[in-house]
Amino acid sequence: MNRDFEFRQLLRAYRKGIISEATFEKEMAGLEGESAEGASNGSGFCAMGRTYPSERAAITSYLERVRAGESMGAQGFNQWLQVCKTECIRSGLRMIAEREAYHVRVFEARLRDLGVQPAAAAPSEELSKFVQMLASPDLPDNRKLLKLTASYDSEELWRPVREFVDLIKEDLESKELIRLYVEDETSSGNWLRMACKALNPQLQETAAAARMN
Ligand SMILES: [Fe+2]
Repeated sequence: MNRDFEFRQLLRAYRKGIISEATFEKEMAGLEGESAEGASNGSGFCAMGRTYPSERAAITSYLERVRAGESMGAQGFNQWLQVCKTECIRSGLRMIAEREAYHVRVFEARLRDLGVQPAAAAPSEELSKFVQMLASPDLPDNRKLLKLTASYDSEELWRPVREFVDLIKEDLESKELIRLYVEDETSSGNWLRMACKALNPQLQETAAAARMN
């Protein structure tokens, strides 16, 4: 059986809850072992610290993973918008929520093109907590921005994905899709950091004090 097919079967079983995360990881490790052998003779694909059976497997796995995060991102930003009390950030939140939602749609469309039927996956505990934090009517907007920008960061976060894009040689449609996705996320991140500084003047004072020392 071809490894690409095995990988898709495994992904499908995991998403449907037929196998646990532990079994999925174990089976993936087995496939990765075979793929690492394949990589040495030119048939595996190494990206973002893993070895995949093929370029296609790396792409479908990435689109699946990001789709789940973006879907929760759309929910989180939309719910924040419902409780947001700071007028000057409302349009930014609305725009980011739209970006997150359309990322889900274009990723799902691409997965279908690649023969993978997108299925609803249970959100991780971490993502559920993230949405709860953004939706909270009690946490002030400036604190939400502080929490978000602590993790929603910069070049280092996106470097492995940019390297992945550079490695894609066959599926040019997905390559450009992921490249543009990174540009969108970078734009959202830049705006969130700017809003965070504007609504947290103490950060600017700390930075000014650091420059004087
Ligand atoms: Fe996002």
